[in-house]
Amino acid sequence: MKSKILSIIFCLSTSFPTLYAQGKPFAIEHGPYLQGLTENGVTIVWTTNRKAISWIELAPDDSTHFYLTERPRTYAESFGFKMVDSLHMVTLKGLKQNTTYRYRIYSQEVLSHVGTKVTYGEVAASNVYRSRPLKFTTANPGKKEMNFLVLNDIHGNNELMETLLKGTDWKKTDLVFFNGDMTNDIRSEEQLFGDFLDKAVELFARETPMYYARGNHETRGNFATTFPKYFPAPGGQLYYLFRQGPVCFLVLDCGEDKPDSDLEYSGIVAFDRYRDQQAEWLKNAVKQKEFLDAPYRVVIIHMTPFGGWHGEQEIEQKFIPLLNSADIDVMLCGHLHRYIHRKAGNGINFPVIANANRAVIKAAANQQQLVIEVVDAEGKTLDTLKISPEK
Ligand SMILES: [Fe+2]
Repeated sequence: MKSKILSIIFCLSTSFPTLYAQGKPFAIEHGPYLQGLTENGVTIVWTTNRKAISWIELAPDDSTHFYLTERPRTYAESFGFKMVDSLHMVTLKGLKQNTTYRYRIYSQEVLSHVGTKVTYGEVAASNVYRSRPLKFTTANPGKKEMNFLVLNDIHGNNELMETLLKGTDWKKTDLVFFNGDMTNDIRSEEQLFGDFLDKAVELFARETPMYYARGNHETRGNFATTFPKYFPAPGGQLYYLFRQGPVCFLVLDCGEDKPDSDLEYSGIVAFDRYRDQQAEWLKNAVKQKEFLDAPYRVVIIHMTPFGGWHGEQEIEQKFIPLLNSADIDVMLCGHLHRYIHRKAGNGINFPVIANANRAVIKAAANQQQLVIEVVDAEGKTLDTLKISPEK
């Protein structure tokens, strides 16, 4: 489904016939959606139907009209160039924490680049005239309360995602995790957006940040290697740590479930070495101040550290010993398509929740407790877990 963002097309220097010379008018196709939001930055991602340079205009969240004045621009840039692509990501840095900003996305088509001459085409932008400008709020480690949701194993079922998120109060929801297997595999950009991302944009992702923990199905398909380009996390890896309010989240990238040599992977994966690399990162991550200072420490990872398959065993052997000595409060997983709540024990020092594929985790943290509620597609609460903060 195409983005419902209305695109405004400005004919800058060309006439009407040129506008249609390449078929459809130049337009924003998918997005925008927020990625890697932290205390002082965020990356905003969208696509256009043809290659372009892109930028964001940013305005404070005051009562002024967006058109009051020229708003400062930040371009999508790399190695000193404005990026020319159909996938656009603008990283805003140096923002104030706990601050709401209004934003507008722009792309200008690049018709040709011959020698030193670049020819530009039309500009497409999100609407700030008939619609209110889009907004985001930077993270705030001092925030007393925060709320988050976790979805997993949707496997391309947009209707199910919509059902699970129905009734969500987005004003009170700080962030959403996609905890893996949102699709069966990744074969093209169109499929990626069609399977779940357009629906996420429609429901929340333009203004509420979504953080991804890759599942073992996002590693499959010929387009899977491009996954990191669409989901730029804090730190530039698919495993990362960030803080919002009283919670520090450790997001881990589980890899595949079978041995790397399995027939199904055609010799193209190296997840054992990748999990070694993550374990090295994890050793230092759990020593960081933002992690140590957090009243709650929550691990997000798609596969469970139990189940008997190779990937699960790797998680148990490579990650659990490090997490066991890091005062983790809870680990949130998916993958098994049924609900499991394992209390601390059997070599794991914290509870592990495996959320079902037809349920959503709704969590609320304040100074007194972290409450994790698991709610199924019929709205029935399957389980509630209450955790006290670190002393
Ligand atoms: Fe899975």
